[in-house]
Amino acid sequence: MAHKIVKNVKLNSSVRRLEIHAEDIANKALPGQFIVLRIDEKGERIPLTICETNLAEGTIVLIVQEVGATTIKLCKLPVGSYILDIIGPLGKSTEIKKYGKVICIGGGVGIAEIYPVAKALHAAGNNVFSIIGARTEEFLILKEQMRSVSKNLYLLTDDGSFGRKGFVSDVLGEILKKNNFDIVFAVGPVPMMAVVAGQTKPYKLKTIVSLNSIMVDGTGMCGSCRVTVGGEIKFVCVDGPDFDAHKVDFKELSSRSLRFKSAEKQCLLKIEKGNSNVL
Ligand SMILES: Cc1cc2nc3c(=O)[nH]c(=O)nc-3n(C[C@H](O)[C@H](O)[C@H](O)COP(=O)(O)OP(=O)(O)OC[C@H]3O[C@@H](n4cnc5c(N)ncnc54)[C@H](O)[C@@H]3O)c2cc1C
Ligand code: FES
Repeated sequence: MAHKIVKNVKLNSSVRRLEIHAEDIANKALPGQFIVLRIDEKGERIPLTICETNLAEGTIVLIVQEVGATTIKLCKLPVGSYILDIIGPLGKSTEIKKYGKVICIGGGVGIAEIYPVAKALHAAGNNVFSIIGARTEEFLILKEQMRSVSKNLYLLTDDGSFGRKGFVSDVLGEILKKNNFDIVFAVGPVPMMAVVAGQTKPYKLKTIVSLNSIMVDGTGMCGSCRVTVGGEIKFVCVDGPDFDAHKVDFKELSSRSLRFKSAEKQCLLKIEKGNSNVL
């Protein structure tokens, strides 16, 4: 069944908020889950987190960063147009309960992925400390939404154009020294999640990361999203996306995430050398 785009709002130069009609998914979605969509018959399948749901309208909200062919095409779709298919909700939902004092960390477009988790933790009665960071002010999305679900909100940009200059790990290091926390949730680029895991480990503070490995089918069949957690092979799409950060093999995850980038790089090198038949 095709899904109608009911809203398409620009958040910054490369990120859009899309509201899409998908009643069955909206009714079942839980924080931390994602969908896999295909724009048209020739389209690639891509995974995106369900950022919000609107039960009255039967819609889901996706926050999409344009990074390649499919996300660029998706963001260009006008209101009233249709997406061919969406499967979901996929993945295991984040375990939401009253932990006590929790930290929610989002980096870049990962802010869109931590927001539903922070919102649910807040609603469950937790004392939520949130730390969100991005390259520059324009990429620091969902500030007001994060403020509304956080007791303390720390805002950072790499260049200091908004909030404090620095990385989310700077604030994390400081607040870990001053407070006792019960759990940490983090979503963002792999290096950021690896640093967070390294910071919380000495405190034996349980830390959950949501992994964005490269997916193809999203249903546990292709093995593309494979990660090693605690020495065991897991598939992010069906066993995750949430995992114990202290057990994730971030080095392997990082090299697997780069495999398409290096393929692109090799193509470009061959093209530069005049050998363009690789395309
Ligand atoms: C569970 C899950 C949830 C996600 N949620 C969101 C979300 O809410 N919002 C959002 O904007 N993106 C999200 N992503 C990432 C998104 O799926 C990719 O950006 C998208 O698949 C890229 O497709 P493309 O065709 O536009 O780009 P491609 O041409 O396929 O890739 C462009 C570049 O992005 C890199 N890339 C591709 N897929 C990923 C990935 N999964 N992680 C990191 N880099 C990647 C490639 O290596 C390449 O360099 C999520 C990924 C997963 C696995
Ligand atoms: S995406 Fe194919 S197994 Fe997870």
